[in-house]
Amino acid sequence: MHTRISVVGGGYVGLVSAACFSQLGHIVNLIEIDPTKVQAINQGRPPIYENGLEEILLAHVGKNLTATSSYESIPDSEVVLICVGTPQAQDGGADLSMISSAARSIGIALQRSDGYHVVAVKSTVPPGTTEHLVRPTVMKCSEKDANAIGFVMNPEFLREGLAVQDFMKPDRIVIGSSDQMAGDRFEGIYSGLEAPLIRTSLTAAEMIKYTSNAFLSTKISFSNEIGNICKRLGIDVYEVMKGVGLDHRINPYFLNAGAGFGGSCFPKDVSALIHLAKNVGEDPALLNAVVEINDKQPMRMIELLEKRVGNLQGKKIAVIGLAFKNDTDDARESRAIPVIIELIQRGAKVAAYDPQANSSMSKIVPEISYCANPSDALEMADACLVMTEWPEFSYLDREFDLMKRKVIIEGRRILSCKDAEGICW
Ligand code: UDX
Repeated sequence: MHTRISVVGGGYVGLVSAACFSQLGHIVNLIEIDPTKVQAINQGRPPIYENGLEEILLAHVGKNLTATSSYESIPDSEVVLICVGTPQAQDGGADLSMISSAARSIGIALQRSDGYHVVAVKSTVPPGTTEHLVRPTVMKCSEKDANAIGFVMNPEFLREGLAVQDFMKPDRIVIGSSDQMAGDRFEGIYSGLEAPLIRTSLTAAEMIKYTSNAFLSTKISFSNEIGNICKRLGIDVYEVMKGVGLDHRINPYFLNAGAGFGGSCFPKDVSALIHLAKNVGEDPALLNAVVEINDKQPMRMIELLEKRVGNLQGKKIAVIGLAFKNDTDDARESRAIPVIIELIQRGAKVAAYDPQANSSMSKIVPEISYCANPSDALEMADACLVMTEWPEFSYLDREFDLMKRKVIIEGRRILSCKDAEGICW
């Protein structure tokens, strides 16, 4: 049974969700304000790289998937999905301006509708947002009766680079709803996906998302703290975590010690949760520590580097790996950023290389040189810092012979050459 779905917001969550819902047989309109993105999507060219996304677009655009800049599909859509961004605001909380604007546009568009509609929030929003911001805004702008529109909160758990896989094979589907009927109607669009399904309240669904990301971030900062202790004791933290992760209550994932977590989600979501805790009078001591460890961890690369090569003034330092993790061109909150900024401040000459993220990093730190391959970065370098776990780096070996000195420090455990020292191993 197919449903007519409008998805508002064509970023990586909205675009992947729209594509995957069309793959499940629904009739999907993706509403995106950027006309170049709309055009690319309608030509089957995804504006972002996500494994498997292009094949799905090519199979469904022009059939049951259309991208558009207008809200005219909303009145005929049984389900409207809000997938707009909620970036970090100046005060550390979530910026909900795009959520408000989407809710207003959806409400106005629903004035022209008949029948029952479900408005679902998929964006990551602080608990209470769907009930106290989205619902009243949509109801006011739509001028509809209360029972004409139901509200749902359906968080996403998509990893960049693996988003299609994570959508089609989820660990769980979480549906928070304002009432039973809204949740029941919404549940139907996921038929065809095999996964545990949780029905809960709107606020619990919002909190499940924040708590998931905060816990994954906590695992990483915990692993980094253990790694920092292990390094002083001459113990390999990866050996330790192999033994720890086999406990079924812990599991082996997200225990990789290194330069810390980056990306467009973990930093902003932990910060938003801290901000929320303080607003309700709680002191989030553990979450503050997770952020503090993550902020300090990259500086250990600089400390180790200075210990090995002395004063950095005038030294050439190769930084290979710029993306916040492998298999993405995204450099947002990459742990390479604070390292590069500190190198510049200490007078080093930085030569950077990344298989995909040179261009995104050059928009953040334009004043360093970007190389087309690792050898150009390593040529006559006094040291090399590895900041992203790109599988291709594990094949680097003879390229290191190009360096003036073979001082190699890993922020991510990826190299196979024996000369490397790890940030916390
Ligand atoms: C994350 C969550 O995994 C996903 O469920 C959520 O929907 C969005 O945020 P993403 O930000 O794409 O996904 O990246 P992820 O693969 O989780 O990695 C985040 C950061 O943690 C990266 O910088 C990565 O290098 C780092 N990391 C990850 C570690 O340092 N150690 C680990 O063991 C795992």
